Amino acid sequence: MSANTNALDPAATTATQEEISAEISSTHEDYRQQLLAGKKAETQPRVDFAPYRSSLLRHPTKNLHHADPETIELYSPAFGQRDVHALESDLTIQHNGEPIGERIVVSGRVLDGDGRPVAGQLVEIWQANAAGRYVHKRDQHPAPIDPNFTGVGRAITGANGEYSFTTIKPAPYPWKNHHNAWRPAHIHFSLFGTDFTQRMITQMYFPGDPLFALDPIYQSITDQDARDRLVATYDHSITSHEWATGYNWDIVLTGSNRTWMEEEEGEH
Ligand SMILES: [Fe+2]
Repeated sequence: MSANTNALDPAATTATQEEISAEISSTHEDYRQQLLAGKKAETQPRVDFAPYRSSLLRHPTKNLHHADPETIELYSPAFGQRDVHALESDLTIQHNGEPIGERIVVSGRVLDGDGRPVAGQLVEIWQANAAGRYVHKRDQHPAPIDPNFTGVGRAITGANGEYSFTTIKPAPYPWKNHHNAWRPAHIHFSLFGTDFTQRMITQMYFPGDPLFALDPIYQSITDQDARDRLVATYDHSITSHEWATGYNWDIVLTGSNRTWMEEEEGEH
């Protein structure tokens, strides 16, 4: 395999995992040195992060253009309990049969920067199945689709900001960022506030995943504490007898402990 010849063209890249990992290490070392020199800790991903090859041509290169939102965008969507059925948070009952895989419950709270619960928020998730396959025509790698698992669900947070999903633990899957690139297992989350302009998208990971160190999306967040906040905690109090294992993951919308949020077009 030859060295990467054109880093700006993801289709042409032939970077090896070793090259990607070396670039991640170098960037993180630079960040550590900046912290030691007194620079403020980062909480968000680097938009311009070379190891994330497939983002190089689609990340913003100019400052955001601030425009006044249309009036409709300031009060829609306004989801309520009547719009989202409680059963929509159970991804294992959407078909006639049981999906294959490890049944899990993912629960947590949506909080603001002061630790106050954020009630009545629409939380949407989407994910790969237990074989690492999405129900999407762009995902054609040789892993089986599960006819009993679509991989999408939604819920409205309760009075204490709480949410809970029952689903199947997703598997890692390959992507085309570089040769032999694999994403750690993850669940995509979308949160709507009270209007379209507040939508935020992020990813939740599972503890101890050996792919963390190799993944340029996860590692585009240079700060270890900020990365750790994307990893759920195994929680035996959520685990239920002979039924499902449980994970806890809180989402902080604002402040220095906020959960990393990606650009909306992110799809990996
Ligand atoms: Fe994904």
